[in-house]
Amino acid sequence: MAPSDRPYYQPSLARIHHDGFGFHADATAPGILQLLAAVRVRAGLVVEIGCGSGLLTKHLTDAGHRVLATDASPAMIDLARAYAPDAVEHRVLVLPDDPLPEADAIVSTGHALSYLATKEQVEASLVACARALRPGGILALDLEDVSLVDVPLRPHPIGWLADDWALVVEHVSDGPSHLAREHTIFVREADGRYRREFERHDNVLVDVSAVAGRVLGSEGLVVEVSDSFGDEANMTGLKVVTAVRAG
Ligand SMILES: C[S@@+](CC[C@H](N)C(=O)[O-])C[C@H]1O[C@@H](n2cnc3c(N)ncnc32)[C@H](O)[C@@H]1O
Repeated sequence: MAPSDRPYYQPSLARIHHDGFGFHADATAPGILQLLAAVRVRAGLVVEIGCGSGLLTKHLTDAGHRVLATDASPAMIDLARAYAPDAVEHRVLVLPDDPLPEADAIVSTGHALSYLATKEQVEASLVACARALRPGGILALDLEDVSLVDVPLRPHPIGWLADDWALVVEHVSDGPSHLAREHTIFVREADGRYRREFERHDNVLVDVSAVAGRVLGSEGLVVEVSDSFGDEANMTGLKVVTAVRAG
């Protein structure tokens, strides 16, 4: 959640993410589906954290999963309701504080928990996920790792131009466990003029192997940290956590 209590991904940026940035959810979906094969066979409940506009949700429901799609952004949940209508429920849910229902799987792509303000909030969210997992359940999510600070920040803003929006993103960092993306957003109005908006997303970087191993391990889960959910090539500095509660 944004420090200002105004959720990240207001309606304009939510729509832009859906229109132009679905590649990560599409790339990670096959690996996530493979990890969830046994959950689908037993018709288990998949809780998706940070579902955004429902890009992964739709892959999951099309494959026959029962999905509770959740996100901190009401604008994202509105999009997910329209794009992935077969989810059993679409719910605004903000970690670490909102209660998680019992689940057979908890999944997340697009480093949703990295949008939290502190490492302690990431840890509290992982504990909440672990405690919500039923026996035999699996947790699979990606997180931004501290090694991301070794990746040189783009020295210049980068931009995208579409028919009715444009986006400029600048990367800034306040230190080794922080990465912010400053989004300047232009949305074309009916009269052809552009409305300008701004969103800054502050991400906390954690030592994913150390944090996930310690926190999820102490909750009784068997934890593995890798670079991908399946065969996809992820951006450098993104780590994938899979953790299983023995059945
Ligand atoms: C980069 S987007 C990824 C969205 C989607 N999973 C995808 O791949 O298209 C990160 C998502 O995490 C959500 N998010 C940020 N902080 C959150 C929190 N504290 N709890 C739940 N969701 C959060 C945002 O609203 C956003 O939709």
